[in-house]
Amino acid sequence: MNDLAFDTAPNSLEAYWMPFTPNRAWKRDPRFVSRAQGMHYVTPDGRQILDAIAGLWCVNAGHCHPRIVEAIRQQAGQLDYASSFGLGHPAAFEYANRLTEMAPEGFNRVFFAGSGSEAVDTALKLALAHHAIRGEGQRVKLVGRQRSYHGVGFGGLSVAGIGAQRKHYGPLLPGTSHLPHTHDPARNAFSRGRPEHGGIAFAEALEGIIQAQDPSTIAAVIVEPVAGSTGVLVPPVGYLERLREICDRHNLLLIFDEVVTGFGRLGAPFGSQALGVMPDLICCAKGMTNGAVPMGGVLVNDRVAAGLMAQPEGVAEFMHGYTYSGHPLAAAAALATLQVYQEEGLFQRAADIAGTWEDAVHSLRDVPGVTDIRNLGLLAAIEFGPQEGKPSAARAVAARCFDKGVLIRAAGDSLVLSPPLIVSTDQINEIVDTIRSAALAG
Ligand SMILES: Cc1ncc(COP(=O)(O)O)c(C=O)c1O
Repeated sequence: MNDLAFDTAPNSLEAYWMPFTPNRAWKRDPRFVSRAQGMHYVTPDGRQILDAIAGLWCVNAGHCHPRIVEAIRQQAGQLDYASSFGLGHPAAFEYANRLTEMAPEGFNRVFFAGSGSEAVDTALKLALAHHAIRGEGQRVKLVGRQRSYHGVGFGGLSVAGIGAQRKHYGPLLPGTSHLPHTHDPARNAFSRGRPEHGGIAFAEALEGIIQAQDPSTIAAVIVEPVAGSTGVLVPPVGYLERLREICDRHNLLLIFDEVVTGFGRLGAPFGSQALGVMPDLICCAKGMTNGAVPMGGVLVNDRVAAGLMAQPEGVAEFMHGYTYSGHPLAAAAALATLQVYQEEGLFQRAADIAGTWEDAVHSLRDVPGVTDIRNLGLLAAIEFGPQEGKPSAARAVAARCFDKGVLIRAAGDSLVLSPPLIVSTDQINEIVDTIRSAALAG
């Protein structure tokens, strides 16, 4: 083992302020991983942990895929960094070409960012710029949705709908409104795939928001096709289609935040393709590089791109960018990732195994405390209602799963699951059996 292997837990845990983590509690009872391969993490003391969440909805091709590792190694030795502000390097262009070939029809340009949060802020700014260039600069308001997560930038936080994440940060962007979320357990609990009830009515709430604000003042609506971080909320039948219709009627851009649903999670390259509804802008990140190097991006449809490109030449068509836009290591990792997805047929694999996944997660319906199970593609959530005056068991169940060798996250009252797309039937059974025994051990 060489000096850089980082295989032992550090002596002091003080300096590192961990994100979205109750630091003091965590540091009293820390959990470490120091290696990973395929479907597994490995702890410093050598325990294998089955990864049921693809790291954090990222590692769709499995951990440390040799092709991706090698591509990063090679690029690091060849070109470590180059600014994308007025300077090109081949890998970023090559990746943009490959990615847009795989994207839905009519999405022929991509703007690179360094994360999902940056992708979201980029998309929101693109929407405002789109309208300003068309002479409708008064369209500055944005519509998000309750129980949505769009990262942590001021733009993404403004359209997101998780009160606890907003409460310390003031009014955020002015003029944002929120659609109701679509979680309706009274009518849709234990739906397999897309829930049957409420889609049209939930979407029609947009018409109310638009009329209350005046349609000519709104720039865009942003939604996750499936809300991931707030508990895998699957869009009811007809919902996204109706949002699209309403946006068209009032000339609003529709943005899909596909940071979770992109790159095969729903059995097609993007969720828009799997669900058959086309937005104007698609945000992506995470599975783009299989989680191996930070990267995000916004796919831009031809209509929006043409408007921006029609401006006079000689000035930047979009006054925006990041030091790490199109970073060489990210581009190399993303290119290798795309090759792996294609050569190993992983998106089709996700589609093929989704039925087995659905049956397996729904087999947990009889576990005491489980009040809802939701799934689509290789996503699922198991919701635990409060029991006998005690809070939901989700967090404790997730902790026990880790002790039993399976990594699962709790989001509010739900366990959220998103295994790498290479998950086997045996591993699906292991995940479900572990959840059952962790829940029964409570
Ligand atoms: C839908 C969605 N959008 C945006 C983000 C933010 O991505 P990042 O953490 O890379 O900034 C996430 C992260 O989980 C996400 O799930």
